[in-house]
Amino acid sequence: MRTAPARLASAYVTTVRLTPTDNGVSYDTDALVVGVHTGPDGLLPAPGAEGLDQALGGRLAATLESVGAKGKPGEISKIPTFGALTAPLLVVVGLGEAPEAPDDGSGDGYDAEVLRRAAGTAVRALAGTGRVTLALPAASAEHAGAVALGGLLGAYSFTKYRTTSEQVSPVSELAVVTDAEGAQAAIERAGTLAESVSLVRDLVNTPPSGLWPARFAEIAERVGSEAGLSVEVLDEKALKEGGYGGIVAVGQGSANPPRLVRLSYSHPEAGKKLAYVGKGITFDSGGLSLKPTASMDWMKSDMSGAGAVLGALLAIAKLGLKVNAVGYLCLAENMPSGTAQRPSDVFTSFAGKTVEVLDTDAEGRLVLIDGIARAGQDDPDVIVDVATLTGAQIVALGWRTAGVMGNDDDLRAEIVATAGEQGEAVWPMPLPEELRKGLDSPVADIANLHPERFGGMLTAAVFLREFVPDGVRWAHIDMAGPSFNKGEAHGYTPKGGTGAITRTLVGLAERYAGEPSR
Ligand code: BES
Ligand code: MN
Ligand code: ZN
Repeated sequence: MRTAPARLASAYVTTVRLTPTDNGVSYDTDALVVGVHTGPDGLLPAPGAEGLDQALGGRLAATLESVGAKGKPGEISKIPTFGALTAPLLVVVGLGEAPEAPDDGSGDGYDAEVLRRAAGTAVRALAGTGRVTLALPAASAEHAGAVALGGLLGAYSFTKYRTTSEQVSPVSELAVVTDAEGAQAAIERAGTLAESVSLVRDLVNTPPSGLWPARFAEIAERVGSEAGLSVEVLDEKALKEGGYGGIVAVGQGSANPPRLVRLSYSHPEAGKKLAYVGKGITFDSGGLSLKPTASMDWMKSDMSGAGAVLGALLAIAKLGLKVNAVGYLCLAENMPSGTAQRPSDVFTSFAGKTVEVLDTDAEGRLVLIDGIARAGQDDPDVIVDVATLTGAQIVALGWRTAGVMGNDDDLRAEIVATAGEQGEAVWPMPLPEELRKGLDSPVADIANLHPERFGGMLTAAVFLREFVPDGVRWAHIDMAGPSFNKGEAHGYTPKGGTGAITRTLVGLAERYAGEPSR
């Protein structure tokens, strides 16, 4: 059996091969993956499994039932093939109920996300196997791309900080079985997305001792220029001189000074310009408003928004989308110290408004307002900021659903729809007018904390809105929960950093470029 090369920081495959359909018996692979549905009268082999079922004399369902398979999503059955196929191992993944094909002939009714998750679940169950061939339903390019993406994302593992040989190596090679027209382009897109999402996961998983603002900026500079982006980095001196009061205030307590990274991509035929702004707190201790121990251990993930923005810009450039895009990474480490900002300190933000800092743990909004105001100078059609902004997001929507708010209902709806297409859960939330009053400060233009604890996700967004340049459509995505999986791996989502919202940002750029999104 082959194992993955050890040279990558985290080991993962980023390329997928296409294999045309054959009778299911002779794929040259170490494990063959097929799907099975729950049917009214027992199990039903899914498209991709029929040839194999025939070769096995129609006994696939009976064999699966004998090992207790039910065909439910997330279920895996491993069956040795005893020489009946070239592949020594057959892996059957549950796909739930078989979909009904729509009457208008627009495909077979499969939901792309069901396919992504099934492929991811199967590949995770096969870590260390070597070559894996995915013969899941993939009658269209879109579905072949979904199978490829799920498989690639499921193959992720973060091994940089392990020295033991017990580390689980991912699969070494993935192949997707399909005869669909356009599948090659779809799996190439999947490879590009998987590369970005894997990089974001790496950045999130890297401990704060290995990722501080200047280091993040260096990585962005390197990978950004490799992808053909223009990259500018403002260091702490430039930030002070430039009037970035929020980023400076949050970063001033740390021995690792803050940075602002600007990434830009342009296409000669672009009609629209997007600006993405990411919260990049490489560690959030809370500052002098220190977090309790139990809430602090995973705050290395507080740069996930900046990660998603970097990942998205890289993918947009590699895909060559017909759109202009700028990305801002607002990078700082939020630490308590003798130079840290104090509760009740006041700073002047990039937009010129003064802010009273009542709670140094509400730091994300302070770095974002400088990024948002700076993005306004690029004259974009829309600004979207992405942040692990509030614990209240998790209270409101749970671990897996991000909230989206904004000053434009159509943009908010576009983001919800785009996220849905990409298989990411994002739900629309309001900005109630009555919440603004609570942000009044007795000394400055605005305070960073609302006296009311409830609705904290919304008050944070109401604060941000005050800094959005006039006339610009703006949306804010709070993904405090979805950015980091503290539970068990599921589908194509590993434990730890998830790379959430990266694909939504790429999908939005495809929408603005007028490309079909898959
Ligand atoms: N980074 C946190 C939000 C967070 C919480 C992200 C849990 C991921 C998981 C943010 O900087 C923060 O501390 N927010 C405070 C705001 C409060 C002080 C108004 C919060 O949510 O408690
Ligand atoms: Mn905080
Ligand atoms: Zn934070």
